[in-house]
Amino acid sequence: MISVVDVTKVFPGMEHPAVGGLSLDIDQGEFVVLVGPSGCGKTTTLKMINRIIEPTSGEIWVDGVAATDVPAHDLRRGIGYVIQQIGLFPHRTIAENIATVPQLLGWAKDDIESRVHDLVGRVGLDPAMLPRYPSELSGGQQQRVGVARALAADPPVLLMDEPFGAVDPVVRAQLQEEFLRLQEELAKTVVFVTHDIDEALRMGDRIAILNVGGVLEQFDTPEEILASPANDFVADFIGGERGLKRLGLRAVSSIDLVRGPVVDLSDGKIGAEKAMAEYGTDWVVLLDGDKLLGWVWDNDIDQGSLSDLEPHDFWVELGPESSLRSALNAVVMTRSRVAVVVENGVYQGMAGLDTIAGEVEQ
Ligand SMILES: Nc1ncnc2c1ncn2[C@@H]1O[C@H](COP(=O)(O)OP(=O)(O)O)[C@@H](O)[C@H]1O
Ligand SMILES: [Mg+2]
Repeated sequence: MISVVDVTKVFPGMEHPAVGGLSLDIDQGEFVVLVGPSGCGKTTTLKMINRIIEPTSGEIWVDGVAATDVPAHDLRRGIGYVIQQIGLFPHRTIAENIATVPQLLGWAKDDIESRVHDLVGRVGLDPAMLPRYPSELSGGQQQRVGVARALAADPPVLLMDEPFGAVDPVVRAQLQEEFLRLQEELAKTVVFVTHDIDEALRMGDRIAILNVGGVLEQFDTPEEILASPANDFVADFIGGERGLKRLGLRAVSSIDLVRGPVVDLSDGKIGAEKAMAEYGTDWVVLLDGDKLLGWVWDNDIDQGSLSDLEPHDFWVELGPESSLRSALNAVVMTRSRVAVVVENGVYQGMAGLDTIAGEVEQ
């Protein structure tokens, strides 16, 4: 969908290129993140894709057409752009901001109005915001407006320059999650810029790691970059806790769970003792059919029949979509040293430290 071919940008009067010989191929519907230190040419690269900046040399293709062959305004019609620092028009209402591109394209008033209302819902804004001005909105709300404005004319390509940069970590995580959900529906081709490697790892199908001067150091999936960083620059940029970050990318459903020391109420004390002996534990999980009731100590069992017991809840019950990182967290936070997985109340099994660690061993 987007091909950047050996593109260099040298700004007038600058000795070193801002972007040097950059090549990237981005597939349709792919979510690619450009990440790298401040000043490494991320914004310049985005602006060359929609021709706000002309490359000094090299070619850029968008949807099979050389970007330089189409008038810039036609090119931009197919490309939504979320600018760094949000960049809403301060003297236009939220509705007017979102309507910017459809208005330029001469859409009918009714069409614009219904599109604006549709978008406001999609990006999680209250329609009551529409007549307000940007300064009346919180940072997170403004960033939502920025995304809605970029999506307004339904462009196949979306360029996003640090779109969630100006908000606190909690709101940022929320915006990231919401946008990923939205992207599942929209399947745009997205080029997303950030300087935050964790944001890149969370969001990207593939990540392009840039060094100063717009030099591409590695272009690969988050999993592959974490498993085998191409060089010291990439390894440094990823930072510590590579193993934990890899666990953060994998779902619990990707590993084989063990059944663990479990007993059905109907199997009684003997069944419980057998299960504990098999796994060498002094606790056992109680099930009612396939429903997880909780766990009890072996001492508790001596007191009465299993169904008279009041089982303890697990500290946390994970779902199949939970990350292995949260599974590891459950393991280290509980004396039983296991992470318990439940789907719709149905017991799925458990994972211990060895299984989880085995997933990221070198
Ligand atoms: N219009 C410009 N004129 C001169 N130099 C520029 C211009 N825009 C950006 N630069 C320089 O190009 C380099 C890359 O900038 P930029 O693409 O904004 O980096 P990033 O977005 O990765 O932080 C920086 O050294 C910056 O100072
Ligand atoms: Mg920038």
